[in-house]
Amino acid sequence: MPSERPTGFGIHDLSFASTRFVLTHAELSRHRGDDVSKYHAGIGQRAMSVPAVDEDIVTMAAAAAGPVVERHGADNIRTLVFATETSVDQSKSAGVYVHSLLGLPPQIRVVELKQACYSATAGLQFATALVHRDPDQQVLVIASDVSRYDLDSPGEATQGAAAAALLVSADPALIRLEGPSGLFTRDVMDFWRPNYRSTALVKGKESVTAYLQALEAAWQDYRARGGVPHGDLRAVCYHQPYSRMAHKAHRYLLERCAGGADPLAVDRAVGLTTGYNELLGNSYTASVYLALAALLEGDDELAGRLVGLFSYGSGSVAEFFAGRVQPGYRDHLRTAAHQEAVTRRWPVDYATYRDLRETLLPTDGGHYSLPQQTAGPFRLAGIRGHERIYEPTDR
Ligand code: COA
Repeated sequence: MPSERPTGFGIHDLSFASTRFVLTHAELSRHRGDDVSKYHAGIGQRAMSVPAVDEDIVTMAAAAAGPVVERHGADNIRTLVFATETSVDQSKSAGVYVHSLLGLPPQIRVVELKQACYSATAGLQFATALVHRDPDQQVLVIASDVSRYDLDSPGEATQGAAAAALLVSADPALIRLEGPSGLFTRDVMDFWRPNYRSTALVKGKESVTAYLQALEAAWQDYRARGGVPHGDLRAVCYHQPYSRMAHKAHRYLLERCAGGADPLAVDRAVGLTTGYNELLGNSYTASVYLALAALLEGDDELAGRLVGLFSYGSGSVAEFFAGRVQPGYRDHLRTAAHQEAVTRRWPVDYATYRDLRETLLPTDGGHYSLPQQTAGPFRLAGIRGHERIYEPTDR
C-alpha cells in the first residue's frame, strides 16, 4: 500500500539558543548618558545577548539544532541550510562545522545562504520545495548571527545574537505554509558590510524607510497573487531589527493598505511576537523566527489560525507569506528551554562588554587556545594555522 500523500509542508520543530552574556540597556544607558526610556519605550529593547570569547555563529547554531536532532533523529535529514550574514569563512559553510559537531550522517548536502537578515526565509522556502519533491526527507534550516555595529553609534543599542533551528518536513507539527509569497527586491544601500569590516555600515533612518517600502510592495504582491486580507491573519511576525519596528511596520501596513491603524489592532497583531527579540537584541536572520517562537509560546489559541510572516533583508529582499498553526502545536513547543536560554545569561557591565567586543581572533596563522566561558554545549576551543577548532563541552 502506498503511504498517504502528506497534506502540507512547513515547520515541524523550532528551537533557539543564544549566548553566555547579556548587557542590559539600563547599563548601556548609564554609559551613554541616554534616557533609558529611549531604549525601553523608543526602540523596545531591554537587553542584548553578548557572545563569550568561545562562542560564535557555529556554537549557537549547534546549540539550537542539537535538541531538534535529539528529538527527531537525523535519518531523514538530507539537507542542512545555514543562513547567516556574519559568516566565519568566505568559502566553507558554517553548516559543515555544525554537521560535524552534531554527528550528522555524511549523506547530507550542506550549504550557506546570504542576503542580510532575509536568507533564512529563502532557506525555509527552498526546504519546503525539497520536501514537497520527496516527503520522506526533512531539511534542517539554521539561522545564526551576531549583530555588531560601531561602538557609540545609533545601531549599537540594537545589537544582539541568537540562532534559530527549524526542522522542515511534510505534515508539520507547528506551521503549515499556505498560500502565495509576496516578493520584493530592490538595490538599495541601507545597510551593508564590506568583506574587510567586522561591523555593519547602516544608514539608520533610510533603512527604516526601505524596510517599510519593501513591506508595502511585498504585501501588494502577496495580495495580488491571492493572499488573504490582513483581517484573516491572527498575528504577524515581523523581522525585528529592534522590537518597536514590528509595531511601526504593522501600523504602516494598516495605514497604507487598510485605510487606518487602530492601536489596539496593531498591538493584537504583534504584541506577543516581541518577547524574545526585546531581550536578545537583533539576531538578523533568526529574528523573525524568534518572533514566531514567542507568538506560538505566548498564545494558546492559535490552532487552525493563519499567521503572517514578514522577512526583510537590507540591500534589499523582502517576502510576506503565511502559515496555518497546526492542532496540538503546543505539545511540540520548547518554552522552558527557550526561557532558560534567556534567563541563564550572565549580566555583564559596560567595561566587560567592551572587553568582549574588542577581543578579536588573531589572524597571523599561529596557534591559540581560548578560555572556556560558554555555558553552552559547544565551544570554539581555539584557532590553529587559520583553522577554527570546535569541541563539545561537558554541558
Ligand atoms: N523616550 C521614549 N521614546 C524615545 C525617547 C525617550 N526618551 N528618545 C527617543 N525616543 C524614540 C524616538 O522618538 C524614536 O521613535 P520613532 O521611531 O517612533 O520615531 C525612537 O525612540 C528612536 O529614536 P531615534 O532618535 O530615532 O534613535 P536613533 O537616532 O538613535 O536611531 C535607529 C534609531 C533605528 C535608526 C538606530 O538604532 C539604527 O541605526 N539601528 C540599526 C539599523 C536598523 O535597525 N534598521 C531598521 C531596518 S532593518
